[in-house]
This record gives sequence, C-alpha cells and structure tokens, in this order.
Amino acid sequence: MDPLSLDTVALSQDKQKLIILDQTLLPGEVKYLALSRIEDIRESICALRVRGAPAIGVAAAYGLYLAAAQTDTQDLDVFCAAVHTAKERLNSARPTAVNLSWALERMERVILEGRSGMTVPALIARLLQEAEAIHSEDIAISRSIGRLGLGLLRHGDGILTHCNAGTLATAKYGTALAPIYAALEDGWTDLRVYCDETRPLLQGARLTAFELQSAGVDTTLICDNMASITMARGKVDIVFVGCDRVCANGDFANKVGTSGVAILARHYGIPFYVCAPSSTIDMGLPSGDHIVIEERASQEVTELWYARRMAPEGVKVDNPAFDVTDHTLVTGIITEKGIAYPPFSLAFQQFGF
Ligand code: MRU
Repeated sequence: MDPLSLDTVALSQDKQKLIILDQTLLPGEVKYLALSRIEDIRESICALRVRGAPAIGVAAAYGLYLAAAQTDTQDLDVFCAAVHTAKERLNSARPTAVNLSWALERMERVILEGRSGMTVPALIARLLQEAEAIHSEDIAISRSIGRLGLGLLRHGDGILTHCNAGTLATAKYGTALAPIYAALEDGWTDLRVYCDETRPLLQGARLTAFELQSAGVDTTLICDNMASITMARGKVDIVFVGCDRVCANGDFANKVGTSGVAILARHYGIPFYVCAPSSTIDMGLPSGDHIVIEERASQEVTELWYARRMAPEGVKVDNPAFDVTDHTLVTGIITEKGIAYPPFSLAFQQFGF
C-alpha cells in the first residue's frame, strides 16, 4: 500500500464531517472515523487518533469550521461567542504543539477581522475557505521541506529518525520523512532509515516503520536505547526529526527522547536536522524553557502495550510526552522557506518569521 494514499485528515465531500485515519489502530487496521461533534474531535486529538503537530492543526481548523457551521443563530455576537468557546475547547486538547493554537487563532482571526458587514453564513463560508487553505498549504509546505532536505542526502545514506513526522503526522508527505518521499519520487532506492521505536506510545514502531516499509524504503526498527550503538557502528549519516514548537532561538520541543538523540549525534559527529514548517515556529517564545510540556497518563508507561501490567502497582511514573532540545545541538532547521543555520534567530528574521 502506498502510504501517501492514506488521507490523515480531510473534510467529507458534503463538508459536514471531519474524516480522520485512526492512528491508534495502526499498523494492524486502517480505519477512518467520521466526526462532527466538537467533543469527539477534541477526544481524537487528546487520544492521538489524529496526531503530529501539522495534522492536529488541520484537524482543529476543520473542527472549528464544523462548530461554526453547527451554530443555530444569525446574530453575529452570539455566533462569534460560540466559535470562541469551541476554539478554546479544541485548544485545550494538547499544550505542546503550537500548530493547534496557530491554526485556531488563524481561523478566529477570519471572523474577527471580517465580521463587519458580513452575515453569519458568509463568515461560515470564509471559515471553510480558511480551513481548506491551512490544509492545502500544509501539503505544499511538506513538499518544499522534502525537496530542501533531499539536497542534504547522498545515495546510500543511513537516516535516523525519532517518533513519526511522516505523512501520518501531516496532511501529506510529512516533515522529517518528506526528504525520503522526495528521494523515492526521484527514483532513489538506496536510502536506509533507522526508526527509533519511541517509548511509550511507539509512534516509531507503529507508524514510521509502517509507512516507510509500505513505501518500499529499507527500514530498520530499533529500540530507543539502541540509537547510540547504531551510530557507533557507523550506520547513521544524518538525523532528521520533526518538531512541535520551535522557539525564536532555535530551541525546540519534539517527542520525548529527541534531545537524547541530539546529544548522541553531537557525540558521534553526525549532522542533526530539524524539519519545521513555519506553522511550528513560535517567534513569541524566546527559548525552550518557556515551552509547556504535556504530561500524559501513567498507564501509557506501565501497561498499555503489555498483555499483563509490567510495573509494580502504585509505582511513581513520570510521563512527559515531549522534551526540549537545545539549539546548540542543532545543525540546521529545514523550513519551507529554506534551511536555517545558526544563529537561528537571525536566520528566522531573514526568512520573515
Ligand atoms: O505525540 P505525537 O505523536 O503527536 O508527537 C508527534 C511528534 O513529536 C512529531 O515529531 C511532531 O509533531 C512533528 S510531526 C511533523
């Protein structure tokens, strides 16, 4: 199966439902959910049925459109208040990926800036347009990141990646995996990819290994704690990872474990690149210590993937879903506008972020 044929997130033809691929069931089952209620859409984001920073931005944009379309009023004030309430509800689903609030802010701005002289149905139509724009821009941005990232690769390279920043995490192509799809498009058949399994939710094992193997890429799954030996054995030429929020100085949050990979890459002298659509760059945050890190349920660590609980009852568990990588460990940040090199704050300014 071509993984690019899977639509991670879309609006139904009649524009009344959000269609998402339920990623909690992968790789065993490819099942789509049709959602219309805001609470179901929020639950899907919380439960990682739809996940990956860009994909949750697109899902939230469509979710807000659906909430607006379901309001039963012609009164502009009542309409704007209802949309605002829905926005806050969706925004509370997950705290770390800035794409969620970025997409929702962009959607609400459409009605705040456009409301004077417009009717409720006209504003709903504008919201639909904006959500569709966020969706199609995400595809174009991923393609551009893919092309730029491909320029860093040589035939035969071994690439290590962490978590899933592939087509499943975006509207299509992905960010960290986009250069690999670009290589396939150009007929390359000799790239090798090492996927960290990504404890505790196994996005690397369940999603990255699934999508790359389905695409016909030479894919090797490793446990998170095998990254060091894999690098020491000379198998890794470059690291590509995605991100959930990049700060103005280049510090960034990504799936927990990423900072450890960056530290290892520095130790072994391996280039470490972050693939970042502009929707993930948060120029409002000066550095990584301001990023809110999502804490998730302890059961994800102690029992989720085991036939029997594997940790003693009552043991204390920390389950931060993300960590922050210091910008000094980053070789470059691949955005759709070009590759930013240190000092990142200057490069971001030059790109107009
Ligand atoms: O918790 P998840 O699965 O949503 O975490 C996803 C990641 O950390 C990705 O690397 C990131 O969102 C970038 S996706 C292009």
